[in-house]
Amino acid sequence: MYIVSSQRSSDFSSKMSARSMSHLSPVEKKRFPDGELYIRIMDNLQDQDVTVVGNTRSEEDILELLFLLNAVKEQKPKSITAVIPFFGYARQHMVYKSGEAISSKVIIRSISEVAEKIVTVDIHDTASFSFTDRECINFSPVESIARNHRKDSINMVVAPDDGAFEKAKAVAKALGADSMYLEKKRTGPTTVEYEKETMNVKGMNVLVVDDIISTGGTMMKTVEMLKAAGAAKIFVTATHGLFLNGSAEKLRKMCDRLSTTDTIVSDYSTINISMDVMDYMGEKK
Ligand code: R5P
Repeated sequence: MYIVSSQRSSDFSSKMSARSMSHLSPVEKKRFPDGELYIRIMDNLQDQDVTVVGNTRSEEDILELLFLLNAVKEQKPKSITAVIPFFGYARQHMVYKSGEAISSKVIIRSISEVAEKIVTVDIHDTASFSFTDRECINFSPVESIARNHRKDSINMVVAPDDGAFEKAKAVAKALGADSMYLEKKRTGPTTVEYEKETMNVKGMNVLVVDDIISTGGTMMKTVEMLKAAGAAKIFVTATHGLFLNGSAEKLRKMCDRLSTTDTIVSDYSTINISMDVMDYMGEKK
């Protein structure tokens, strides 16, 4: 198997390639004088099984991923699988106000033009998969997160909203801990409010688990509430760490340990899941 990677996912792809002993194909990426993107795959991929890896976080990421997929396709490979460690633009998967573009539909359909199989990691909502007839699988890094907290004697795993409760429950099960979720209400782009509720976490080691830390507003508020309720130690983790507005440093100071997986590289992306994704793809064959 060959792996073709976007520039920003190169760490993730190198680890996938080491795990599967597949070849990481070199890619030439440059800009024309007017700024337009140029992509060239350097290997001959004819009749090969090819995995193309890239996030869809920014417009540049999306264009690069689509160029890579299409350049691979031009070479007539045997099969093409797209691995999207962080599937950005997945929030808008329906029309809320008439006239809106459904971003996740646009992206998943563009990828599906080329890839026969799409692998995501904790996509915001698997509803996006309904826009394609390609095989889609979503990996949730429950075991990887639990492994990272095995030695922290966690008593309680907290989901900062009901959407994260399934994951919190699964992580709690893997750690032999209890789980709970909080009733969250979003009050603005960076602010959230919680129902006043009794949290029985006094003296406990608590792990807060979410799919994504974006502005950090959700996690900061949750940590404040856990502190007020007397938690002994507070660990904060999420699959994807966007950490907008310097929120990583602020959060880090508020808790005992902050970590995310390596779908997006940062100082806190210490949970390596690329190898787990590779194993998962093998199991799902
Ligand atoms: C919400 O649905 C998500 O699970 C996260 O809780 C949310 O996106 C985090 O955003 P922020 O870090 O901006 O509060």
